[in-house]
Amino acid sequence: MTAIKVKDKDFAPLIGETELAQRMDELAAELTEAYADKRPLFVAILNGAFIFAADLLRRLNFPHEISFVKVSSYHGTASTGRVKELIGISENLDGRHIIILDDILETGRTLSSVLRMLELSKPATVKICTLLIKDVGVSPEVPADYCGFRIANRFVVGYGLDYDGWGRSFPEIYAEEEGQE
Ligand code: IMP
Ligand code: MG
Repeated sequence: MTAIKVKDKDFAPLIGETELAQRMDELAAELTEAYADKRPLFVAILNGAFIFAADLLRRLNFPHEISFVKVSSYHGTASTGRVKELIGISENLDGRHIIILDDILETGRTLSSVLRMLELSKPATVKICTLLIKDVGVSPEVPADYCGFRIANRFVVGYGLDYDGWGRSFPEIYAEEEGQE
């Protein structure tokens, strides 16, 4: 893995493909233990969770469904704090076991607004599974029940995560080099 450039910023390798694959195996095992007999519905948050969701769910050998919601809150490399619902959920969630999949938990605003939206439809349980948790010094509005990796407070791209829409399809995760503001 070498350094990459996305738009105007330089990024250095943070989490490689082997490490990601290994952690996906472990998360899949945890989910299997909890959900193998529950026919859960995974709700992945677009756009950021698309690669994480695809890699994780292809490792599950029990019946499950997948659906998507689309929200937007982020511009550039700083959270705006506003969460807009662009595509909502169409499935009936009544009595279902839901697992929300997201790319990264930072302030938790995105996830708490999706959580509130889904809870209106009376699911049996709702849990959160996020690829990354970013340590920003304050605890997020919602906790993650399942998490791939905890990372320091640096802006990251790749494996679904973007910088202004770019850099999502790198197969590994890269962190912004310090001192570029
Ligand atoms: P929160 O609402 O503050 O928890 O922010 C979470 C959302 O912001 C995620 O779903 C991402 O889309 C985006 N985000 C947060 N940190 C990063 C990052 O380092 N790189 C790319 N997107 C990020
Ligand atoms: Mg995003």
